[in-house]
Amino acid sequence: MPGYAPTPVVGMPELARIHQVAGIAVKNEQERLGLPSFKLLGSSWALHERVKAVAGLSPDALIAFPDLSRIARGLGPPTLCTASDGNHGRAVAALAEALGCGCVVLLPADSAASRIDSIKGHGATVELVDGSYDDAVAAARATARARGHWYCPDTVGAEASDEERRFASDVMTGYGTLFEEFFEQILRPPDLLFVQAGVGGLSAAAAASLRRVSATAKVVVVEPEGSNAIALSFGSGAPVSVPDTQTVMACLRCQSASFVAWPILLAGVDAAMVVTDDEAAAAVRQLARRGVIAGASGAAGLAGALVASADGMLRARLGITPDSQVAVVNTEGATDPASYAAILAG
Ligand SMILES: Cc1ncc(COP(=O)(O)O)c(C=O)c1O
Repeated sequence: MPGYAPTPVVGMPELARIHQVAGIAVKNEQERLGLPSFKLLGSSWALHERVKAVAGLSPDALIAFPDLSRIARGLGPPTLCTASDGNHGRAVAALAEALGCGCVVLLPADSAASRIDSIKGHGATVELVDGSYDDAVAAARATARARGHWYCPDTVGAEASDEERRFASDVMTGYGTLFEEFFEQILRPPDLLFVQAGVGGLSAAAAASLRRVSATAKVVVVEPEGSNAIALSFGSGAPVSVPDTQTVMACLRCQSASFVAWPILLAGVDAAMVVTDDEAAAAVRQLARRGVIAGASGAAGLAGALVASADGMLRARLGITPDSQVAVVNTEGATDPASYAAILAG
């Protein structure tokens, strides 16, 4: 990818001292490959794999972006189609623009105007779906099938085809880059990694990557209150869906875990917890004090870490001690500037 560079890691020593842990390391994805979230890591790798498969190239081939663009143009070029809460759609739209493909993104109708405009800014067509994120996912799948577009999902349900599962799995593989960078950048693997979840793809990538470098580190999934399908699924032992609920953490407002993330979460995640809008907003402000710009979804992992380390019962259950090294990811910048300004204003 042109412009690829590892994103920085920021230490939060003062916050660690107040919360009685040895350190808090924040992997800062406020800018990644020119966009304000980690998301392009997933869709770029998945699309790379898809273009190769359709063009009949070797599964082992690694193709530089300009060549990928040339090959994609030779395939039609295809029109990409996906659903989004904002960031995945923006990443797919930016990729389509760079590859010379068309793009259609389906969003829940109550998505923030700034998110819609950012996607349109890459030349994509936005179609609004009267319903939840799950409804937008179902509509995007049906739209892609009806119009012959390439469906580019970051989540799949039980009904998904092999090709759809492949794409969503490759998105998770792409996210792995973030964690491989992270664990090379810090001195030793963290004792606890708090990762915010929407459909669970990012958390699955986190768990898979962390298990490769540590057998003892704990992975804690953090979800918004109400949008906690993963926590509830752990509770019932099988994937369950939740009703659509308003949250300031707009990019985590998902109703179901991804079918391809679920087995990885079940095998590799130690705990799941929820945070409130106020807790996420407080974490946004903490990050801002250290010069890290984070939207509410971006700060949710830190919110979970701060809530857990300030609570005696959670400290005991998660094994948090004054020697614990805690890691979190700021997964986005101020992707909804109006919401960000309101949070900073308290
Ligand atoms: C900013 C941000 N953080 C975290 C996530 C969670 O990723 P996943 O849906 O794979 O759990 C998303 C998903 O879109 C996101 O946009």
